[in-house]
Amino acid sequence: MKTRLTEMLGIKYPIICGGMMRLAYPPLCAAISNAGGLGNLTSAMYKNKAELKAAIAEVRTLTDKPFIVNVTLLPAMSVGPEQYRGYFETCAEEKVPAMEIGGVPLNRYEDGRYFKLLKDAGVKLFHKVGSVKHGKGAAKAGYDGVIAAGVEEGGHPLNENVATTVLTPRMVEEVDVPVITAGGMANGRSLAAALCLGAEGILMATRFINTYECQVHAKVHEELIHRQENETVLYGNSIGLQGRALINDSIRKVMEIEARGGGLQEVLPHISGQYGDHIWKEGKMDTGLIPVGQSIGLIHDTLTCKELLDRMVKEANEILAQNLKRF
Ligand SMILES: Cc1cc2nc3c(=O)[nH]c(=O)nc-3n(C[C@H](O)[C@H](O)[C@H](O)COP(=O)(O)O)c2cc1C
Repeated sequence: MKTRLTEMLGIKYPIICGGMMRLAYPPLCAAISNAGGLGNLTSAMYKNKAELKAAIAEVRTLTDKPFIVNVTLLPAMSVGPEQYRGYFETCAEEKVPAMEIGGVPLNRYEDGRYFKLLKDAGVKLFHKVGSVKHGKGAAKAGYDGVIAAGVEEGGHPLNENVATTVLTPRMVEEVDVPVITAGGMANGRSLAAALCLGAEGILMATRFINTYECQVHAKVHEELIHRQENETVLYGNSIGLQGRALINDSIRKVMEIEARGGGLQEVLPHISGQYGDHIWKEGKMDTGLIPVGQSIGLIHDTLTCKELLDRMVKEANEILAQNLKRF
């Protein structure tokens, strides 16, 4: 399965893992890369340059394959300018193969100095966006690829709420760099569909939670298998940062606060991620916000990363071949 993405990065399969706060640690990152995809190391989990450097070194002891580092550039939130500087300088010094930038365009942050630093270091830069306008801006600025993230996605879909099935082909119409589809991708059918829509690869996150290398409590795996595609909800519009999360007691509380006009200070404790370890490590599924996508409806089992990726690509190839025969 060759696309401009696999050629650019020297990977076997056009499948990228998206940033996952509290989950995309070196073992999962390396397992995905060793399985032929592009594993993700999420920088916000590391306090400073030294910690991120150590995490990159750990990934490199576990795999000799390419991987991608996520930086979510939301300067008004918890990560400060010093920390961002540390992340960007480290990625340039370490010449990491690729970076996934979410939030503010890196070419417009700090006069574009880190964008240039990373480009000069040969790092492939991908901007994750939810609109064609932002995708065009990224392509024009010189990003190597655009990740088109539809409203189905976990994390923070843009509040324009355009679905993956429309956002992907629209993006393909407007930019000449490779487009990677995100949001709702979970199996071989999704991969085949994304390629038919014109994407050169997919990015998925929620599906990777149900792999054995994602170090979460067994109850998390059971819960995601059990829950369906209609059991997530969009929240956060009243505070200017939309998100999608699994319906549980915590998100019901957030919805109730937002509905009666409670402000940021009241909402923040429930969405800040302070209960992350209770959820992921202890399996307490009602103690905080769980940022998964609608793709939970497509999760029916827990596999190793290799089993998952091999199965997805086999299924996608079979579906594409069957349809060629059919029509
Ligand atoms: C548990 C979890 C944590 C996430 N954390 C981040 C993050 O820190 N930064 C980011 O840019 N995206 C984050 N995302 C969004 C993903 O990178 C990706 O864009 C999205 O989940 C893709 O949709 P899918 O979940 O349907 O595959 C997270 C997603 C999940 C499921």
